[in-house]
Amino acid sequence: MDLFNNTDTIEKVKAKPFIKWAGGKSKLLPLFKQYYPNELKSGLIDYYFEPFLGGASVFFDIAQKYEIKKSYLSDSNIEIVLVYKVIKERVEDLRSALNELKKDYCKKSETKKENFFYNIRDKYNNYKISYLNGLNDIYVYRASQMIFLNKTCFNGLYRLNRSGDFNVPFGKYIKPGIYSEENLLAVSEVLQNTEIEHGDFEFFKNKINSKSFVYFDPPYRPISNTSSFNSYSKEGFNNDEQIRLAEFYKKLDEKGAKLMLSNSDPKNINKQDNFFDELYSGFNINRIDAVRVINSNAEKRGKIKELLITNY
Ligand SMILES: C[S@@+](CC[C@H](N)C(=O)[O-])C[C@H]1O[C@@H](n2cnc3c(N)ncnc32)[C@H](O)[C@@H]1O
Repeated sequence: MDLFNNTDTIEKVKAKPFIKWAGGKSKLLPLFKQYYPNELKSGLIDYYFEPFLGGASVFFDIAQKYEIKKSYLSDSNIEIVLVYKVIKERVEDLRSALNELKKDYCKKSETKKENFFYNIRDKYNNYKISYLNGLNDIYVYRASQMIFLNKTCFNGLYRLNRSGDFNVPFGKYIKPGIYSEENLLAVSEVLQNTEIEHGDFEFFKNKINSKSFVYFDPPYRPISNTSSFNSYSKEGFNNDEQIRLAEFYKKLDEKGAKLMLSNSDPKNINKQDNFFDELYSGFNINRIDAVRVINSNAEKRGKIKELLITNY
């Protein structure tokens, strides 16, 4: 038997997040699974929506485990949406651009690697996009820069300053794995069955129906005044936005969609803070154990509760 030609023996690579994103949910997936709706497990959900996409860990889990007819993915951060669109539609070109960057970077000495990083960061910041219009070569190159910066910057953070510049410093990793070709191709394949848009969390509202499951992972309400947890964009996500989201949640509940929403639990800091308990009263408010992974102060990484609010 020719083992190399026996396709049954080749295990398909599972797509997983290709970018590090503050608030990424990979570590919570084993817990989350217990809270997915039964309708998902029994094949009664046709459409999956993730309107705060970020690193998309929940999407990758769901899309590869359950029979979903189509997924609708969106985020208000145009740069991350651009990367998903490029991976979906121009994965081969992106692969070449990333290989070039990787080759140039890896052959440099340590000090030159740092210069190279700042050079790419400057190029990235000198060009801004405000809308997506087709996917020209500039977008492909920009997606490769975004992945490169994410893998070589300090802590894999994505943070913008007030003028909208990516300002995370060099990460000094000895051998950063810039990207995995295998995973990139697997991601591209999973994305074929999706619609990806740049927009506010209400973007796909007209498509959501009783056969839909929506997972909301908004920027966390900061658990302390100094917590900079939600600086993915220069706009931020304040209490008014949390209230607008809760109103949207209620509208979708009336349509019969299955809904799951994450947030930080203000009771970690102040037991009297009932902000979310009041906002989502009438729904199931679960408090699950979480570990905050992106916190520059290692001592502050510890077990805290996180909210998982479902309407089923
Ligand atoms: C907590 S992160 C999502 C993390 C993601 N679930 C993961 O596992 O990596 C929140 C995301 O919401 C996006 N966002 C912020 N405000 C938004 C808005 N008004 N509408 C849609 N997306 C928004 C941010 O760009 C960010 O990617």
